[in-house]
Amino acid sequence: MSNSTAVEVSHLTKTYRQTTTGRNVTAIERLDFEIAAGEIVAIVGQTGCGKSTFFDIMIGLDHPTEGRISIVEWLQRLGLAKFIDAYPHELSGGMRQRAAIARAFILKPSILLADEAFGHLDEVTAAELRETFVKLARECGSTALLITHQLEEAITVGERILVFARPARVLADIRVADWPASEHGRLREAIQSTLQGQPFQPRSGTA
Ligand SMILES: Nc1ncnc2c1ncn2[C@@H]1O[C@H](COP(=O)(O)OP(=O)(O)OP(=O)(O)O)[C@@H](O)[C@H]1O
Ligand SMILES: [Mg+2]
Repeated sequence: MSNSTAVEVSHLTKTYRQTTTGRNVTAIERLDFEIAAGEIVAIVGQTGCGKSTFFDIMIGLDHPTEGRISIVEWLQRLGLAKFIDAYPHELSGGMRQRAAIARAFILKPSILLADEAFGHLDEVTAAELRETFVKLARECGSTALLITHQLEEAITVGERILVFARPARVLADIRVADWPASEHGRLREAIQSTLQGQPFQPRSGTA
């Protein structure tokens, strides 16, 4: 993990037991990636691939079956970096207090999170809100994570796009800046065929 890492996802796995069938469903399978502080990342993937499950674990609404998501930066600034792996009961009262402050800063506004936030809006409003999302992220120097079905939206908003397989693991990790605006149609097609099971084709001329 480098100094500029804001979010580290390691070996994240989530298995649900479906109450109706009693069967296990793997929503996330050993998911690994890092997000740097200040990065704006879009996550795309087929329906049911575990995007919302990832989101819920990220915001603490759900727990992983295995692996973890580490959210650092504020912990480092507050002198708690070496306690990243500690359980709450292993921290002193003061440390717990600082961890609580860190959590508050994490939720607002050092990381902006959105799961299908603009999908059900009319296109004009959605476009305005996408712009606001990016502007806010930049003004606050926030790390931002946008989960979306819409490839167009991912390309407009994201500096980086993670394409998830089903169950969730990273199929492609794309730097949008590698694709000039004139090639965005090709990028959309490349993501589309990756989602349909083809290996991701980097832009010709790049590695
Ligand atoms: N609480 C739950 N209990 C059992 N299975 C669940 C639960 N939540 C999600 N799942 C299953 O986990 C898988 C991933 O679901 P998830 O909602 O994370 O997908 P998603 O990528 O957000 O899909 P969409 O694009 O449709 O929003 C699916 O197979 C889903 O049925
Ligand atoms: Mg979802």
